[in-house]
Amino acid sequence: MRSVSIKELLTGKEVLQEIIINGWVKTFRSNRFIALNDGSTLNNIQCVVDFEKIDDTILKQINTGAALRISGTLVESLGKGQSYEIQVKDIFVHGGADPEVYPIQPKKHSLEFLREKAHLRVRTNTFSAVMRVRSALSFAIHQYFRNNGFYYFHAPIITGSDAEGAGEMFRVTTLDEKKPPLDEQGEVNFKEDFFGKETNLTVSGQLEAEAYAMALGKVYTFGPTFRAENSNTSRHLAEFWMIEPEMAFFDLDANMDLAEDFIKEVLKYVLENCEDDLLFLEKRLLDEEKTKPQAERSEMPLIEKLKFITDNNFKRVTYTEAIEILRNSKPNKKKKFQYPINEWGADLQSEHERYLVEKHFKCPVILFDYPAKIKAFYMRLNEDGKTVRAMDILFPGIGEIVGGSQREERLDVLTKKMDALNIPEEELWWYLDLRKFGTAVHSGFGLGFERLVLFATGMGNIRDVIPFPRTPQNAEF
Ligand code: 4AD
Ligand code: MG
Repeated sequence: MRSVSIKELLTGKEVLQEIIINGWVKTFRSNRFIALNDGSTLNNIQCVVDFEKIDDTILKQINTGAALRISGTLVESLGKGQSYEIQVKDIFVHGGADPEVYPIQPKKHSLEFLREKAHLRVRTNTFSAVMRVRSALSFAIHQYFRNNGFYYFHAPIITGSDAEGAGEMFRVTTLDEKKPPLDEQGEVNFKEDFFGKETNLTVSGQLEAEAYAMALGKVYTFGPTFRAENSNTSRHLAEFWMIEPEMAFFDLDANMDLAEDFIKEVLKYVLENCEDDLLFLEKRLLDEEKTKPQAERSEMPLIEKLKFITDNNFKRVTYTEAIEILRNSKPNKKKKFQYPINEWGADLQSEHERYLVEKHFKCPVILFDYPAKIKAFYMRLNEDGKTVRAMDILFPGIGEIVGGSQREERLDVLTKKMDALNIPEEELWWYLDLRKFGTAVHSGFGLGFERLVLFATGMGNIRDVIPFPRTPQNAEF
């Protein structure tokens, strides 16, 4: 007898065959109907038990959450809402789940409650759907780059450089095991930094990816990055995954073209490969929206929204044009912007980004040519001497999803900029080497993976699209 997944069973190929399946009980009704799920699909398979044939001690253990191995015959179902079911011959209980204490019961649990149970929440329909979409998206990302001539590059996690220059780094260090963890003043007894050097967890693999692009042509990273920002928002994590392509001989226009094509292609992949999960998430979202005031409801159902993105051009606008639009706009009859835009050079807040995307252009926006002062040191200075070849992609409901730029490839301009920002040349000597030996126009960007998953699943909080979120409140798992 073959052990099969529920996903395979639901194709109907095994009808009238004797099969074995393994999975977890969702519900058990009338001592007769087990809804079993094995994670291969959102759908459960109904297993019909003849309780006279199954031992009482086994029946008692069939509770929500229990792990079972069921053998039986797959038959077409007469019941509503399912095409196949299993006529059970035998049940083996791998492990029970005491209903008195098992927290995931067949009822609606709040997302906040489930966040406290991060190790079990993936057993719910919502989280299993989100995590399958997350997995599909990461596969699509690798596939996209592979199909487009990129090499997967593994950036270091421990690094000596602050790629973004924003000082939001977690320091890497070791405790001195010979001394008590705290000294008399209550200070931590560090042995030393990383073998005597000051190092941090990486905020971005970009600088190292630049080195690789300047030899392999087109590379991308896809790995965890860390930001010690204490921001408690639904868009920020202390540990998040970032995808960072870096391309030699690409200018900003080519960079924007790639970023737009890339996002559309990976979203197309989930539209084509995750239909059941997306339909479920769309329905979940519609139910949730019903509880919100009309004005806050999303205008499009999830799948339509994803198709809208894949089928329409993103709007490309310079920072300067965006500032003009924002200066001349009234976001709301009653409310002004909380941070009114008064002058050129101000950094955009998320209220401005969302206004541009959701109210003004009503489509994703690529903002480019930002003031040099509000962007990182490595971005290429424009001829005007005050703007840089930066681009951010802003998405409806999300805000910034991508940040990128054409890089400063001219040694003299780069060192001048680093001087002005007090970035010691010794710290980035190797980065400067790239400008001394075979420098060339090059560009890249970073896509926040969880923000993409948020968008693709319609979830509202970034903590709900990563398995074990790391935020100031959540680090226990
Ligand atoms: O705009 P950022 O800071 O850009 C960089 O790190 C560049 N070095 C990328 C590059 O050019 N290679 O971050 C890029 C993206 C943001 O647009 C956002 O989507 C995401 O990373 N991001 C976060 N996502 C979750 N939590 C956080 N704390 C994030 N910070 C940035
Ligand atoms: Mg950014």
